[in-house]
Amino acid sequence: MEVLRMYPPAPTVGRKALEDVVIMGTLVPKGTDITVAAPLMNTNPELWGPDVHLFNPERWVGPNKSANGGAKSPYAFMTFIQGPRTCIGNQFSKSELLVMAAAFVGRFKFELLHPEKDLEVELSVTMSPKGGRTLVLLVKDVYSIHIRLPPAKGKSKGSWI
Ligand code: HEM
Repeated sequence: MEVLRMYPPAPTVGRKALEDVVIMGTLVPKGTDITVAAPLMNTNPELWGPDVHLFNPERWVGPNKSANGGAKSPYAFMTFIQGPRTCIGNQFSKSELLVMAAAFVGRFKFELLHPEKDLEVELSVTMSPKGGRTLVLLVKDVYSIHIRLPPAKGKSKGSWI
């Protein structure tokens, strides 16, 4: 959940105001095109607190925290957008990630190739690691698999090494 908060795969979503609406004191006239930026909402200190830029998976652990990471508003986590046009794959993708993590964590040790390299993200229709990153999966000290996490679509093909 913390990865999805800090690196939302769909960083922006477009909406159009169907009627005049006032949001936090600002009039948004009918017909205005709006870009909802999940990375900004997901890292707003007013909603998440002063440690918002810390990668802290623990914020999702505890009573009533699994849904919104302890944020002040249930609308603070915008990775899947909210409301009537929220992502219908929301729960499915979280369950899928959980199953994958459970299957992988018991079998592999994870190492990032070149961990000293800063993580830069590429913002496009989807978010991806700039230039790609290589993750090394070590199978119980027997052998290793290198997985290349590809950069944004169209920039480079990415590969299994
Ligand atoms: C981590 C994985 C995923 C993320 C971050 C994600 C994110 C999003 C976002 C932000 C939207 C709103 C797009 C918009 O309104 O312009 C959306 C819509 C949608 N998503 Fe996902 N999604 C994910 C996985 C999935 C999966 C696995 C499915 C299908 C099984 C799915 C099906 C849909 C559908 C059908 C919509 C359109 C809903 C509507 O407009 O009523 N998504 N998703």
